[in-house]
Amino acid sequence: MMDGTLPNDIEKIVEADRAHVWHHLTQHKPFETGEPRIIVEGRGMRVWDQHGKEHIDAVSGGVWTVNVGYGRERIANAVRDQLIKLNYFAGSAGSVPGAQFSEKLISKMPGMSRVYYTNSGSEANEKAFKMVRQIAHKRHGGKKYKILYRDRDYHGSTIGAMSCGGQDERNAQYGPFAPGFVRVPHCLEYRAQWDLSGEEYGQRAADAIEEVILAEGPDTVGALCLEPVTAGGGVITPPPGYWPRVQEICRKYDILLHIDEVVCGVGRTGTHWFGYQHYGVEPDFVTMAKGVASGYAAIACCVTNEKVFEMFKDDVTDPLDYFRDISTFGGCTAGPAAALENMAIIEEEGLLENTTLMGDYMMDQLRALQDKHKVIGEVRGKGLFLGAELVADRDTKEPVPEKQAQAVVADCMAQGVVIGVTNRSIPGFNNTLCYSPALIATRDDIDQIVEATDKALAKVFG
Ligand SMILES: Cc1ncc(COP(=O)(O)O)c(C=O)c1O
Repeated sequence: MMDGTLPNDIEKIVEADRAHVWHHLTQHKPFETGEPRIIVEGRGMRVWDQHGKEHIDAVSGGVWTVNVGYGRERIANAVRDQLIKLNYFAGSAGSVPGAQFSEKLISKMPGMSRVYYTNSGSEANEKAFKMVRQIAHKRHGGKKYKILYRDRDYHGSTIGAMSCGGQDERNAQYGPFAPGFVRVPHCLEYRAQWDLSGEEYGQRAADAIEEVILAEGPDTVGALCLEPVTAGGGVITPPPGYWPRVQEICRKYDILLHIDEVVCGVGRTGTHWFGYQHYGVEPDFVTMAKGVASGYAAIACCVTNEKVFEMFKDDVTDPLDYFRDISTFGGCTAGPAAALENMAIIEEEGLLENTTLMGDYMMDQLRALQDKHKVIGEVRGKGLFLGAELVADRDTKEPVPEKQAQAVVADCMAQGVVIGVTNRSIPGFNNTLCYSPALIATRDDIDQIVEATDKALAKVFG
């Protein structure tokens, strides 16, 4: 449990925050009269704010990150020991935890072989984009430079990653973007673009990617970048038939497949370590961040197969031949030291299995809520990664206004339960409630989260 002590000068701290911190994703005008929220402490599934109020965290640190829960002393101890031994050396050299974690990680990813360390999901994706561009120059006379991305997917906050971003509201006002990124349609059957369902819909959505490739010219397309399950774009699980066809299309046109596991990676979807492993996909690049060390240290990885790696060492006489990239903080040793412990905890506590069991349980509970509240149009997800799309009318599927969806989140917060909602994502579609409790969640935790949602929906929608 929390030891109950707030810092003595908590009021001064709140004042300092209000005066000087620019919060992420936040309109600050309300802080001129109200208080910013400060999270002071965390244990297991729970966090405490500056008033000592306890909350159950159903979104793992707000953005799907703290997968093994708060207050893990063994991760903190491993990081401490490593920092005293060696905190940093540039990633042009190896490190002990870097070598150990790479071996452990690759043992969970059959078919993959190399780990490139960086420090954010955006940056890991940028590395893959740069590799694709360099391969285009090395192998295809610069021609196969285009990178395809999907409507509703997100790959990060840098201008490069946003150029590859399928969320128009998130991108608004930040252009112009980098050239060479091309959009393909989403695969959300609930908002189907074709009058098909199930496997037929899945194959049609994948065929739409082929249509884009043919329109652009297959000799200009180097890679396809996809989330295994779209996260911030509305928790979109792929329809049956989608992935096999996607893989087939990539092989047919010699297009590298980049899977963004920043949210799904390292256990979030249950049973398997990575989202793509549910669908038999064989990627060329896999990027990951958030849950790799559950937020105990900043670490992200761009993992490639040997085919990609080989292309960066085949002409030793050419001074431009290798991957000429550095990430200063990719050389911090705290990241892999924390990631090793994080993975050991998931194994020792059987958290992949717990995620599947509790994910199924939560899905059932949310579907029961759907029977009760007609405002829930669809519940979808995989493992402990779930979404409930709210609609004003089940027949027309008109999304509820975002203020109402946000009122549900605010009411849950007042009840001491932190849930999420799609935010500044797709214009008019900030209407999907998001749940991603830590992989340690119990039935009681889930009951508490679902009960709060039930009450909030009753209050906001009657
Ligand atoms: C799918 C996906 N990719 C990439 C990112 C970017 O990660 P980061 O914020 O660590 O740069 C995110 C962040 O939410 C994400 O959801």
